[in-house]
Amino acid sequence: MDTEWICFDAAKGYQEDELEHAAQILRRGGLVAFPTETVYGLGGDGLQPEAAKRIYEAKGRPSDNPLILHISSREELPAIVAEIPKKAEILMDAFWPGPMTLIFRKGRCVPYETTGGLDTVAVRMPEHEGARQLIARAGVPVAAPSANTSGRPSPTTAEHVKEDLWGRIDLIIDGGLVGIGVESTILDVTEEIPVILRPGHITRNMIEAVTGKVRMDPGLDGRNPDVKPKAPGMKYRHYAPQAQMTVVEGPSEAVIHRICQLAEGYPSEKVGILATDETAECYPHGQVLSVGSRERHTIEQGLYGALREFDHRGVEVIFSESFPEDERSEAIMNRLLKAAGQRIEYLREE
Ligand code: TXA
Ligand code: MG
Repeated sequence: MDTEWICFDAAKGYQEDELEHAAQILRRGGLVAFPTETVYGLGGDGLQPEAAKRIYEAKGRPSDNPLILHISSREELPAIVAEIPKKAEILMDAFWPGPMTLIFRKGRCVPYETTGGLDTVAVRMPEHEGARQLIARAGVPVAAPSANTSGRPSPTTAEHVKEDLWGRIDLIIDGGLVGIGVESTILDVTEEIPVILRPGHITRNMIEAVTGKVRMDPGLDGRNPDVKPKAPGMKYRHYAPQAQMTVVEGPSEAVIHRICQLAEGYPSEKVGILATDETAECYPHGQVLSVGSRERHTIEQGLYGALREFDHRGVEVIFSESFPEDERSEAIMNRLLKAAGQRIEYLREE
């Protein structure tokens, strides 16, 4: 299949003919990768079972892993869900449009192909202007998982989408580097006390400030193999670079010292070090990449790009600093530890 490429400029908005072209592809059951504020999505018509099948095929994704329906306004919600709980209204008032996905009981028009056979459906209204314009023009809820090959880090640029999906989808819309960089927070509002199924940019504290108590899905921390995460996608090894990665956590100087020591055991071109703008210069040996700045809070945005870059450099092992103090640490540490297959070394204070 030939893949087309168009550029979306946030300052100018869509060219009318390009927007109509992309919307038409969606309406006729084709696939369009488009930028959102979190990561790039691979969009298809969420009400067409055939489109859902194409999405699974293009990503190589297991078909029991449900898709998120993206809408452009609150008015589109009642048609696709069976009921809207009061707490969901409060959450939507506070966080939509934005990086928050809510789980509802599904409406009858939503096919099981989209929900991976579940009676619930995930819905999100993105904040990205261009994403909302595209969904509105398509006139259908747009099913969109992250636009990566299943198991690879989610795409934060259109080039990442190209690496994974070129020749497998109809169109890629290039909107540059995304603003956030990790996927939306997923919250199950079908339960009395809402449950966070995937941590994201909107933190537990922010949610509790508007709705009161929420729970974290106990399957999330990955330590107990008998407790499965409730979001089917969270059970797969995911976000993973090809190299084996270990995270080192502790006081900064001790972490740097320990990572230097570990890296010495490998040839410089085969060992990757995931550092920050503040610490990158402390490592004399290995392929050192800065994921971003702790001080300027750009770790979230740089994480997936850095993991992909290690793949390009062909490193065999990666040692990573840890980011437990960042205000987005729930999301960052969740993705980092998944990428590391939960391998972490804790250093004690001297
Ligand atoms: O930020 C995001 O949410 C991005 C952008 C493109 O919007 N999308 C995204 O989609 O991350 P995806 O498919 O990569 O991740 C969706 C996650 C999966 O872990 C899936 O299992 C879970 O949502 N999910 C979807 N529907 C669900 C449902 N009904 N119940 C529980 N989990 C669900
Ligand atoms: Mg994904």
